[in-house]
Amino acid sequence: MTDRYAVIGNPIGHSKSPRIHALFAAQTGQDISYQAILAETDGFAAAIDAFIASDVDPARGANVTVPFKENAFHLAAQRTPRAEAAGAVNTLSFDHGVILGDNTDGAGLLRDLKHNLGCDPAGRRVLLLGAGGAARGVILPLLLENPSELVIANRTEETAARLALEFARRPACAIDVKPEGTGFSGLAGRTFDLVINATSAGLKGAVLPLPTSLFGSHGLAYDMVYGRDTPFLKQARAAGARTADGLGMLVEQAAEAFFIWRGVRPQTAAIIATLKE
Ligand code: ATR
Repeated sequence: MTDRYAVIGNPIGHSKSPRIHALFAAQTGQDISYQAILAETDGFAAAIDAFIASDVDPARGANVTVPFKENAFHLAAQRTPRAEAAGAVNTLSFDHGVILGDNTDGAGLLRDLKHNLGCDPAGRRVLLLGAGGAARGVILPLLLENPSELVIANRTEETAARLALEFARRPACAIDVKPEGTGFSGLAGRTFDLVINATSAGLKGAVLPLPTSLFGSHGLAYDMVYGRDTPFLKQARAAGARTADGLGMLVEQAAEAFFIWRGVRPQTAAIIATLKE
């Protein structure tokens, strides 16, 4: 019997997850299969049911990507605290008929920052750009690292303010989250040690109206988008900051999912290097 896994999204053709999990399985000697499944936009639950029923080999879990992370959140009968905080689920485990939901995105980002890039947010000034699903998913994990401050800025200010208020109330968090100014204009003259771009602007090649003061010369600018040199990364480089795209986060969130499912943590450095080529 081979344990079966899948990634479910729409679109799904571009997904690197089957390749990443095949590399993890080969490296750790785990006997699994992992496929990509395209679901209709209103057919997430049906796609999960069909995947579970499609083979005698047992379906053990699934990764969930755009646009289904909220659907997965509602489908899961039980959720981890980090999935609850994210309001989204990217990793499902099927356990004797019970669907468990987790979210490994924040853990993936933190592992990439701390282990791969040598950037520990503890005691640092952190700026998070964006207030959509990608931003929400990483706020609690970031706060738990005890940055000296976490500022959330977004094109639409109200969304950032709402998010900041929601997380500022969480007792687990040592610090407050502060919304700044109108859109990005409140950031003028501010400098941060770590600037994380969680907006989808880079996917459209759109330039964020950011002040150049934002990027400290020893700072790190991190774009969650991967595989392209976004305007954000160009801006940061021009301002003298070190830059990283989201490929490491992609591999690390997958490694965390693999660990949840298989109980083994793959070595990621070589796999990140392979995917960069
Ligand atoms: P998701 O919720 O999956 O992260 P999204 O709804 O596309 O994706 O939103 C992503 C984030 O990118 C939002 O914070 C959005 O800002 P708004 O709240 O103002 O819509 C931000 N975003 C997308 N395109 C942008 C652009 N061209 N300039 C600035 N921010 C942008």
